[in-house]
Amino acid sequence: MYKTLIYEKKENIGLLTINRPEKLNAISNELISELKKLLDEIEKDEDLRALILTGAGDKAFVAGADIKELVDRDARLGRRVSQERQEVFSRIENLPVPVIAAVNGYALGGGLELALACSIRICSEKAQFGAPEVKLGIIPGDGGTQRLPRLVGLGRAMELILTGDFIDAQEAYRIGLVNKVLPQEELMDKAMELAKKIASRPPLAVRFAKEAVNRSQEGDAASGFALESYLHALSCTTEDKKEGVSAFLEKRKGKFKGK
Ligand code: COA
Repeated sequence: MYKTLIYEKKENIGLLTINRPEKLNAISNELISELKKLLDEIEKDEDLRALILTGAGDKAFVAGADIKELVDRDARLGRRVSQERQEVFSRIENLPVPVIAAVNGYALGGGLELALACSIRICSEKAQFGAPEVKLGIIPGDGGTQRLPRLVGLGRAMELILTGDFIDAQEAYRIGLVNKVLPQEELMDKAMELAKKIASRPPLAVRFAKEAVNRSQEGDAASGFALESYLHALSCTTEDKKEGVSAFLEKRKGKFKGK
């Protein structure tokens, strides 16, 4: 049982809710250690096909690092906490299943960084996004300076990170930070619909494709192309590939096993 997280499974879709609504789901040290334990569990779950991540309550996805815990953060602690959170968020980024962030309110600081580590972001009309760290005299430490420019471009990322200003859902959509803006009451249903659609695809193909696309962000094009080619070759060896191609040619729906 977790204090700061709720984890449920609906068939083969995981739903992870960050659960500190009274503190707008701010990321505390306790939350990070619970998240590490949950990730140990999720990484081993062979049946899981997609994960949805959201925030408890109707105000926030995650409003950043717990500012109370920033009081004692000196350089040594800052480096340790930043490295630890970067690692945890990278584990989310690299999960074998796609992760959909359903942003239901404020996604600020570490909350924005968490959403950036997800594979796909959708949000409600109420969502607001920002990197307010600079206003506290610090800079993002959970991967934001690297992932944000890759997603929205250097100039947009600079403006968000240097001003600390928030942007609303429509602006987030306009700059490509989120894929869809939905009425609040439709957000979770749409997230589930998207997760189920991906879950219906051949799991190994989804996994290899996610890994190859993630690699495209690492800068070295030659090794990205090589990885794509090897993973493509590997996908050609699967039972699901045989089934997918036969099903198309026989004009029927494929039945996939993840093998
Ligand atoms: N860390 C710790 N507590 C936080 C928090 C955070 N990042 N964000 C919000 N909270 C707490 C507030 O202190 C308040 O607690 P209290 O009721 O015990 O006083 C509660 O959550 C509700 O927040 P409140 O500020 O009253 O809500 P609001 O609607 O007036 O404002 C925000 C919402 C998001 C604009 C505002 O809470 C905010 O600016 N939060 C900090 C965002 C931030 O700088 N994050 C990056 C940290 S590196």
